[in-house]
Amino acid sequence: RPRVFSGIQPTADSFHLGNYLGAVRNWVAMQESHDCVYCVVDLHAITAGHDPEVLRRRTRVSAAQLLAVGIDPKTSVLFVQSQVPEHAQGAWILSCITGFGEASRMTQFKDKSSKGGESQSSVGLFTYPILQAADILLYDTDAVPVGEDQRQHLELSRDLAQRFNSRFGETFVVPKPHIVTDTAKITDLQDPTAKMSKSASSPNGIIDLLEDPKRSAKKIRSAVTDSDAEVRYDVEKKPGVSNLLRIYAALSGRTIADLEDSYAGRGYGDFKKDLAEVVVEVLTPIQDRTAAYLDDPAELDRVLAAGAESARAIAGPVLARAYDRIGFLPAA
Ligand code: TYM
Repeated sequence: RPRVFSGIQPTADSFHLGNYLGAVRNWVAMQESHDCVYCVVDLHAITAGHDPEVLRRRTRVSAAQLLAVGIDPKTSVLFVQSQVPEHAQGAWILSCITGFGEASRMTQFKDKSSKGGESQSSVGLFTYPILQAADILLYDTDAVPVGEDQRQHLELSRDLAQRFNSRFGETFVVPKPHIVTDTAKITDLQDPTAKMSKSASSPNGIIDLLEDPKRSAKKIRSAVTDSDAEVRYDVEKKPGVSNLLRIYAALSGRTIADLEDSYAGRGYGDFKKDLAEVVVEVLTPIQDRTAAYLDDPAELDRVLAAGAESARAIAGPVLARAYDRIGFLPAA
């Protein structure tokens, strides 16, 4: 079976609907047909300043949510990045074949470093995409399920794999992004041309998986639309309604065309009310299961430790292969 790898940062107390629809939901689906490795990327989460207690909590909350949405640790490898030292080791060797200018062109770094002060623009934030490339390449990854915002980082991972292979001989599998167009960019409910993001200006623009469902329902009802009261998919002219249609279709399994038909001539009130119900139905069981996993942190930590051991069994030999190709002497 082809290998899948993906990661998510533990930088919030909840995943949001963009993370879920753009990435994590696809991770669950791919378990059917792929050999999957999923990672809570805590090394990435310290690149822009953090609090240790908060990081610890968010790492567990992230893992619990992944289990709650259906990542099965019996068939997939689920682990925390810092528990597998090969990631930091792999990042070093890849950083030595990355051009300074090449790294400087990463748009996410430019966005994030321009927003914050000194702590926001650490060298770690600058080399972040190289660590991400190491994550992916250490698992002989064929496909990487992510949202649209990760496309440029995936391109860098491919370039680095190809460069390493051509300099030192075939070593890394060249990974392909797996970006599902319909949900690759879920947008902000208050600012529907911007992506839904943890750093959104208003909390009303994002739906957190773990927030009070009543709150989510209210956010859907007050989502920005337009003045022509027609439920129709048109990203250019009707970005707000189009985003709600994408969310509705993804969560209900109905097609956008079917939804347009059902709401023809009915305005936005019913549409939003029904979507709010769908959202609540999806969130409630995820919240219950997440709470159950968090109730037993010792067991959660055991699941993650076992995951890290399985991850090392894959990443260790791949790193050893790369070390050998580079010309490092074999360790004892
Ligand atoms: P992160 O933690 O920001 O986001 C996790 C995943 O959610 C997707 N996503 C979205 N998809 C659709 N619409 C949105 N509004 C939206 N917002 C976020 C992201 O594309 C991502 O797939 N650099 C990565 C983490 C990472 C990684 C990796 C990913 C580290 N190593 C290796 C893949 C492979 C990140 O910051 O994701």
